[in-house]
Amino acid sequence: MSTSRRKFLKTMGATAPALMLAKTGFAGRMNRGGGGGGGMGGGGSTSINVPVFELPLNIPPVAQPSTTDAQGRAIYELTQMNTSVEIIPGYQTNILGYNGMTPGPTIKVDSDEEIIVRQINNTNVRTTTHLHGGHMPAGNDGHPVDYVNPGTYKDYLYTNKQQPATLWYHDHTMDLTGDQVYAGLAGFYIIDDDYERSLGLPSGNNEVAIVIQDRTFSADGSLLYSDNIMGETGDTILVNGTPYPYFQVGTSRYRLRILNGSNARSYNLVLSNGASFTQIGSDGGLLEAPISRSSLNIAPAERLDVIIDFGNNAVGDQVILENTAGSGSTSQIMRFDIVRVEDDPSTVPSTLRSIAQLDPSAAVQTRRWVFGMGGGSMPWVINGQPYDENRVDAYPKLGTTEIWELVNRTGMMHPVHIHDIMWQVLDVNGRPPAPEDAGWKDTFKVPPMGTVRVIGRFDDYVGDPNEITSAYMMHCHILEHEDHAMMTQFIVVK
Ligand code: C2O
Ligand code: CU
Ligand code: CU
Repeated sequence: MSTSRRKFLKTMGATAPALMLAKTGFAGRMNRGGGGGGGMGGGGSTSINVPVFELPLNIPPVAQPSTTDAQGRAIYELTQMNTSVEIIPGYQTNILGYNGMTPGPTIKVDSDEEIIVRQINNTNVRTTTHLHGGHMPAGNDGHPVDYVNPGTYKDYLYTNKQQPATLWYHDHTMDLTGDQVYAGLAGFYIIDDDYERSLGLPSGNNEVAIVIQDRTFSADGSLLYSDNIMGETGDTILVNGTPYPYFQVGTSRYRLRILNGSNARSYNLVLSNGASFTQIGSDGGLLEAPISRSSLNIAPAERLDVIIDFGNNAVGDQVILENTAGSGSTSQIMRFDIVRVEDDPSTVPSTLRSIAQLDPSAAVQTRRWVFGMGGGSMPWVINGQPYDENRVDAYPKLGTTEIWELVNRTGMMHPVHIHDIMWQVLDVNGRPPAPEDAGWKDTFKVPPMGTVRVIGRFDDYVGDPNEITSAYMMHCHILEHEDHAMMTQFIVVK
């Protein structure tokens, strides 16, 4: 079936492969505050009682390698499965989970440590797995049609030839990324190194990664997914898979790696006691220097690495992480409960890492990508065209620097994500990026009717111009925009 035929069917409501998600149309009793978000909407509302600040924060287990390959590379095995978990107390929710959980186990590696992640598909749907933020040989990137069929597996080679950063792995299946990430297929992947460990940043129990996601639950506890073409938003906030958790902390600094793993919702995070965050990193790792921020705007797929200092709090204090971009049930995220006095051995150095600025005069190519509206069943297009897996739109040359102009011709923000390499933002609507966007990035908030120019260098890996699965993607990370064709692909060539 051609791409367009398949997408047309999807848009017309033909069933995706049988995922056990409830369909929309449920009109249940609304007994919670409304959670609408910015003109987008899901297909219903949660009608069961969701506890707020009653469940502890879930910390996903750290994955352990099961064996090594002939080259001595650790092999991590993850099994994707259909399973049922208790997210809302008293209800069972069918999910797709890596090792049966959502988020999946956290993979932790060091820069330049090569590993294999064996993704075993024991689900009833075909999958691909992408390492978001990862720089790895072509063919290992989880191309949307490089399918892993039920009952089979694929070994993904991750070379980690990149700076320490907070990455995440997630499903990237053609037309169904939104469905399958919503169903649970996402997990953390954290790269570290000796230099970063030497900085004295909060670590151990004082370092946590949290993924914020919004979901809607049906009356029977199942996930409600409507494939809203404008972007699916839920009315219930999950952090690491738990609704509105609390997290017990001491009177010290905490390093929080925040991922917006939502399909479409952006957040603006603040602390209820008015304290500021100290941001130390973004998508591609540490910033040059820490910056103090009173609020954190975060779009889908972006990562923020922040320090929260509870040193001025007293035991018994409670600090809520709030979302000023939400309302009602989406205006709160989680709560920090200060429960113990704690010495603080950590430091936040005033210089974190040097970042060599890429020079625009070194760019050999400038490419312009216009994110716009198409027509009919394909509302989302890039340069006027919907994604076609058989069409490659750019062949950047290995070792060269390019400037990409991301132009938004719509009235809504699109978080544009580029695979393979990290980029630097040259300007946003002609002005230099804000300090929080001045580090290495892979996801860019392109403002309504605005333009973001980014610069990057295509290092290390080439693809095969005749092999489509060696292409890397660029797409909007509002997953329903991606699934409805706001995606393009490029192959790096010699
Ligand atoms: Cu996080 Cu191409 O995706
Ligand atoms: Cu990616
Ligand atoms: Cu979009």
